[in-house]
Amino acid sequence: MKTVQALLAALALTALLSGTASAADPKVGADRHVAMGLQCETCHGPDKANPQEPTLQTCTQCHNIKALVEKTKNIKPANPHVSPHYQDQLDCINCHVMHGKTENFCDQCHQFGFKVP
Ligand code: HEC
Ligand code: HEC
Ligand code: HEC
Ligand code: HEC
Repeated sequence: MKTVQALLAALALTALLSGTASAADPKVGADRHVAMGLQCETCHGPDKANPQEPTLQTCTQCHNIKALVEKTKNIKPANPHVSPHYQDQLDCINCHVMHGKTENFCDQCHQFGFKVP
């Protein structure tokens, strides 16, 4: 999914940002969450030496999938949060990349033109 270079870039970026006072206009999802008061540990677990890879369950601690599916049900031409292939179980970070540019996962095959926040 991600290249080693991209991961290193994410690492460098976070190191840079965590060194500054605060990101005034957070561009990436992780920083927007941190700006809301979340800590790195909320998504990566308490052990800083061995940070956990976030999973779908990491996100659904706070984001209710059924409510999300309902909220985006009128998006045309398709609801990004449910599909015949993955139902509502596609890992969030296929689209909502948290430390980098977000992706429209579906458009590998479709042309839905989603703008992923
Ligand atoms: C809202 C959840 C969330 C928060 C908060 C968050 N991260 Fe992440 N982090 C992720 C996700 C998801 C990934 C997987 C790659 C991606 O989406 O960019 C990731 C990836 C990383 C990576 C790249 C290595 C890897 O395992 O992919 C580093 C380093 C990292 N995070 C550090 C941090 C630090 C430091 C903080 C606190 C300033 C932080 N993260 C806060 C969700 C989060
Ligand atoms: C500890 C609670 C918590 C966790 C864990 C969490 N979020 Fe959030 N997230 C929030 C809150 C609160 C908001 C702001 C209200 C809203 O839009 O729902 C938010 C907003 C968002 C938004 C919309 C606004 C924006 O700034 O991007 C997206 C997309 C999002 N979260 C995705 C994720 C993903 C993906 C994960 C897992 C990697 C995740 N969240 C983990 C609490 C959380
Ligand atoms: C196929 C790509 C994709 C996946 C996978 C995905 N999302 Fe989204 N998400 C989107 C798009 C596109 C939007 C913007 C919808 C719109 O235009 O209002 C969005 C919007 C959101 C929002 C903001 C909703 C609002 O309007 O308040 C949250 C929160 C969110 N997603 C969380 C998640 C979580 C949590 C997961 C995993 C359970 C997830 N998303 C999986 C594409 C995706
Ligand atoms: C690997 C390729 C691939 C990906 C990625 C993919 N799809 Fe599809 N999708 C297909 C194919 C092939 C069909 C069948 C098309 C047909 O029968 O006309 C299909 C059919 C559908 C349909 C049935 C209606 C239609 O438009 O034909 C929906 C809805 C749909 N996909 C939604 C999604 C959503 C939402 C995502 C992202 C979360 C997604 N797909 C990701 C390949 C893909």
